[in-house]
Amino acid sequence: MAGEKSVETTGVLGWVDKRFPLTANIKGHLTEYYAPKNFNFWYFFGSLAMLVLVLQIVTGIFLVMHYKPDAELAFQSVEHIMREVPGGWFMRYMHSTGASMFFVVVYLHMVRALLYGSYRKPRELVWIFGVGIFLCLMAEAFFGYLLPWGQMSYWGAQVIVNLFSAIPFIGPELAIWIRGDYVVSDATLNRFFAFHVIAIPLVLLGLVAAHIIALHEVGSNNPDGIEIKSKKDKYGRPLDGIPFHPYYTVHDILGVAGFFIVFMAIVFFAPEMGGYFLEYNNFIPADPLKTPPHIAPVWYFTPFYSMLRATTDDFTWVLAGSSLIAALVMFVKCKGLAKVIVPVILIAVAVLFRLIDAKFWGVVAMGGAVVLLFFLPWLDYSPVRSIRYRPNWHKWLYGIFFVNFLILGYLGTQAPTDVFNLMSQIGTIIYLAFFLLMPVWSRMGTFKPVPDRVTFHAH
Ligand code: HEM
Repeated sequence: MAGEKSVETTGVLGWVDKRFPLTANIKGHLTEYYAPKNFNFWYFFGSLAMLVLVLQIVTGIFLVMHYKPDAELAFQSVEHIMREVPGGWFMRYMHSTGASMFFVVVYLHMVRALLYGSYRKPRELVWIFGVGIFLCLMAEAFFGYLLPWGQMSYWGAQVIVNLFSAIPFIGPELAIWIRGDYVVSDATLNRFFAFHVIAIPLVLLGLVAAHIIALHEVGSNNPDGIEIKSKKDKYGRPLDGIPFHPYYTVHDILGVAGFFIVFMAIVFFAPEMGGYFLEYNNFIPADPLKTPPHIAPVWYFTPFYSMLRATTDDFTWVLAGSSLIAALVMFVKCKGLAKVIVPVILIAVAVLFRLIDAKFWGVVAMGGAVVLLFFLPWLDYSPVRSIRYRPNWHKWLYGIFFVNFLILGYLGTQAPTDVFNLMSQIGTIIYLAFFLLMPVWSRMGTFKPVPDRVTFHAH
């Protein structure tokens, strides 16, 4: 296991090593951790996610020194940070830009995992911890967005917390319990503050540690999707592996430099990013008596927000119809007891689609779109990991999936119209079908032969 290598050190280091496995850990996780030598552009984003995490924590600490979690003072305290605290604007813009860049980096990191099948055996836990991180990030961003107490903070929180009231029986009580009041108020601000500055960051840090420990236990995947541990030299080192330090520490510095160029350009020249990173309405103090005409969450939530809005009453007919077709297919395909049980459950779901309010199913579609990701390792039956060796039409399918996700994201930022609603409904079906039908399509087609060794060309 990484971190358990025996070492002989002397002097101060020897003294420390006898009491704490410092050298063993440096060897296990850095100088003798062998990573595949064919990492490419996509492999920058893991270390960049760590960098942004640190940036968010450090800038967040400085903001908390001047921020006041009080409905009467919050908006003013942010203005005070922006205008009067030395360097305050810089900390605030780094933190707000960091939030969006965190999602840019993490979405790209997830795309890489999808392209190269990095979620598959034996990396299921690396992936599951990752999805847990993604959920925490969403919660962290949602709680943080209420803190400036602007119009969008206030009404965004109002809309999202109200969603919980769509849950049958317990919904309305649950929404009051979350807010701590009948509307979003000072009580809500205080608890969101507590979650944003301490509870979620603690869980996030724990999950990131688990993510890396799990990764180092099994070793990294690579663009070819080949297990480098299966070909070792006489010393037990993977033939296609290179020590993480110094090779990838130096490689990652390039990514860090590129990232900072983009990041600082945004912080200095376009911190609002045309209203996508900081919405214009949020420069107006929260007014519980004045609802803005168009309430939209920040861009990183909008693909999922589109799925929520797409689930109208008409759309539940489509969902009910799909469940009935699935029931018929299962009746034909399944054997034994499953032949009865699975179709009966699907018919019951079809009935529920029409019985329960569409708003509830919207919440289920939105939440389900994220929860589905947890099951990805068990949905993909392709005989190869990497997209490189899959049939060409798989590449098109992935392309459609990514473009569809971007379109859903765009639609979520716009005011709803009939055409946009229809597009969101089609987009929701494409998103859900991509995953739910994966056990069927992922094994279809002619796969290319996977090489024994990774493909690598020295630069
Ligand atoms: C705070 C957020 C995150 C941090 C700091 C982080 C960090 C890392 C690092 C340092 C690596 C190794 C380097 C690399 O492969 O790029 C890695 C690998 C990986 N991460 Fe993350 N990660 C985060 C979020 C996520 C999320 C949200 C997912 C998926 C839902 C995910 C899935 C994976 C997978 C599958 C690998 C293995 C990739 C491979 O071996 O090809 N990570 N992560």
